[in-house]
Amino acid sequence: MALVTTTEMFKKAYEGGYAIGAFNVNNMEIVQAITEAAGELNSPIILQVSAGARKYANHTYLVKLVEAAIQENPNIPIALHLDHGADFDICKSCIDGGFTSVMIDGSRFPFAENIEVTKKVVEYAHAHGVVVEAELGKLAGIEDDVKVSAEDSSYTQPDEVEEFVTKTGVDSLAIAIGTSHGAYKFKPGTKPQLRFDILHEIEKRIPQFPIVLHGASSVPQEYVKIINENGGQLKDAIGVPEDQLREAARSAVCKINIDSDLRLGLTAGVRQTLFGDPSIFDPRDYLKVGRANVKAVVAHKIKDVLGSEGKA
Ligand code: G3H
Ligand code: 13P
Ligand code: ZN
Repeated sequence: MALVTTTEMFKKAYEGGYAIGAFNVNNMEIVQAITEAAGELNSPIILQVSAGARKYANHTYLVKLVEAAIQENPNIPIALHLDHGADFDICKSCIDGGFTSVMIDGSRFPFAENIEVTKKVVEYAHAHGVVVEAELGKLAGIEDDVKVSAEDSSYTQPDEVEEFVTKTGVDSLAIAIGTSHGAYKFKPGTKPQLRFDILHEIEKRIPQFPIVLHGASSVPQEYVKIINENGGQLKDAIGVPEDQLREAARSAVCKINIDSDLRLGLTAGVRQTLFGDPSIFDPRDYLKVGRANVKAVVAHKIKDVLGSEGKA
């Protein structure tokens, strides 16, 4: 199967009450882990690439790795998506360079400017058979070039979504309902709670429209523990409870973004291996343990959180 857009995936996910996992890829081991898990569980998948990933691994290497993964897993639909495109130019570069989906992140702009830049990307993308995700509202945390302080963060306003979607012609919309990027999402001692009231209000305003959740890692405590027991220092790392993500996946949320959980799994495997046997210096010995953890994380998400097993 060649790379696909997310149109069909989202339609089925909306109707079926599940979500598609969008996992960030930065190197070969991560691409292999995600697509092997998805292939074995017969799940559609989105592989997403940030500006930072392109800088680290190079656009062409990433596209070729994804092509290899498609060849190895021919039976599942795979979309290749630009995560947090900061401007028209990076979106154009990915559209021209073989991606099937791009995100234009205009969430740092005032409403009218966000509409303007999103519309421009949509026009170019649609003319080239590529779909577009945009963002309304601000997530607390760091999103590539888009820095937002916690005080600045603001939930998506349901009053704005209909006008935004109609005027831009965008294909999916990322919203802010309490998730954030990274491994420190909630203050210790507080109860993590997503704003389902806002999500349901948005669903009413734009029925049948696919919603995206960024910052949806759950920060598995078993990996945090392994990291900290093997020389790491991740204090008070807290993620989104998985039961809340499962609830979101049953609603209009069709795409759930996960990066930090993969990083934690990979790092836990590498640290545990190197601390366990200080004589090791063959990268394959520790990367294969990290890769196995990433695969286990993705398999767990597909089966127990997203509900996308068997939906390929
Ligand atoms: O939303 C951000 C993603 O986790 C990508 O992070 O910019 O460090 O690649 P990155
Ligand atoms: P996490 O940091 O919660 O994994 O979020 C990743 C993300 O939203 C990528 O766009
Ligand atoms: Zn994000």
